[in-house]
Amino acid sequence: MDSNIIDITIVDRNGDEQTYQAPTDMGLNLMDFCRAVELPVKGECGGMALCATCQVYVLSDHPLAEASDDELAMLDQAFFVKTNSRLGCQIHLIPELQGLKVAIAPENE
Ligand code: FES
Repeated sequence: MDSNIIDITIVDRNGDEQTYQAPTDMGLNLMDFCRAVELPVKGECGGMALCATCQVYVLSDHPLAEASDDELAMLDQAFFVKTNSRLGCQIHLIPELQGLKVAIAPENE
């Protein structure tokens, strides 16, 4: 098995889930990846933790890096935030996230 590839399951806004193979050696974050596979994630701020259009709910219990103050501040202002909300652009695709499962949050507007 290619260790530079992880499986990620993403539930879209219709509740349909799909498992993707995502590269861990390209410096991608989850927002980049969603856009690359043409999921409707806007990523308006380009991954600066400034827009929350990349919000996801983390459904698996992977140990994610702690949210930065910027991420927490943004989630504080976002809509539809749950306890498992994270900004996709702050989740870097690394081998430890093999099997990650997330759901895309509703659009803010
Ligand atoms: S892309 Fe804007 S906060 Fe993630």
